[in-house]
Amino acid sequence: MQKRLLVSELKVGMYIILPSSWLSHDFIKSQFKIDSPELLQKVQYQKLKHVTVDYEKSDRFESAISDEPTVEELAYISHNDTVKDPKHESAPEGWSSRSVVPEELIAAIEDKKLSPDKKSAAVYSHSIEMMEHLLESPTAENINASKQAISSITDLILSDDKTADSLLRITAHDFYTYTHSVNVGVTGLMLSKALFKNSDAHDLHELGAGFFLHDLGKVKVDPDVLNKPARLTESEMRHVRIHPYQGYKILNDANALSEECRLIIMQHHEFVDGTGYPRKLKDNEIHIYGKICGIADVFDALTAERSYKKAMSTFDALTLMKEKMITHFDKELFGSFVRLF
Ligand SMILES: [Fe+2]
Ligand SMILES: [Fe+2]
Repeated sequence: MQKRLLVSELKVGMYIILPSSWLSHDFIKSQFKIDSPELLQKVQYQKLKHVTVDYEKSDRFESAISDEPTVEELAYISHNDTVKDPKHESAPEGWSSRSVVPEELIAAIEDKKLSPDKKSAAVYSHSIEMMEHLLESPTAENINASKQAISSITDLILSDDKTADSLLRITAHDFYTYTHSVNVGVTGLMLSKALFKNSDAHDLHELGAGFFLHDLGKVKVDPDVLNKPARLTESEMRHVRIHPYQGYKILNDANALSEECRLIIMQHHEFVDGTGYPRKLKDNEIHIYGKICGIADVFDALTAERSYKKAMSTFDALTLMKEKMITHFDKELFGSFVRLF
């Protein structure tokens, strides 16, 4: 089994495969086992962000050998993803003058000649780029700039059914919070479109921003915990559970989003059976927007790959949600969610 990891996730005993070009690193061999802390440090000192780990040639790690996670653990998997590489914490030089929104994103949204498949691929990849930048630097200015771009993505999803359907199908699944944010943004918006398209009572632009930004609070979680390539311990899980409130607070301080949509961030891990967090809310104590985001969040966690579990297909994820987790969700909303696929 091979996995692509951030260099900050590497450990002594791992067998790594570096990019073949010598220009990107100082090693003569491009494949070797990290056999000492000094060698680990040397690898992490290179200008590489990711490397591939071959677990079959590595010492045994919990991440490579653990059993399948339990259903309860699956419900929490979306916590254990990566916000950013701690080695790249400071903003790149000249960053402040760059917009958090790639120009290519707006160009792709506005390009009337692109086919739905090409358009969705471009919008998807540049949205991920935007979320990556935003999570690296979640200032009020960047939050508001990305909110405007999310508003344009929302218009696209509402007005162009073919591109919207294609967007729903191309979602990639890796370890990163920014990919997860875009996936939950797209699926949350698609469910909201199905539910609310004939109603004036819901501002789908605000809602879309809530879904895309639902995990913003992860920037306040210790990267070593988020980047841990294995299941979290109970105390690490407790630490990760601060992220709904931290995200709510960041958006409140930035004066971004209506209070109703800030609830998405606060409530996206609450379950209708009262087993969620942070408040163990039940049924109608959870806002419908929080319930929608919760369904999209669990679905993306199940269909994503982690170092300790394989990705599930859409069908398998929906079946597991129905058979093993249905008490967590509002049944009617879940039914509408299934009909999207
Ligand atoms: Fe979350
Ligand atoms: Fe999430």
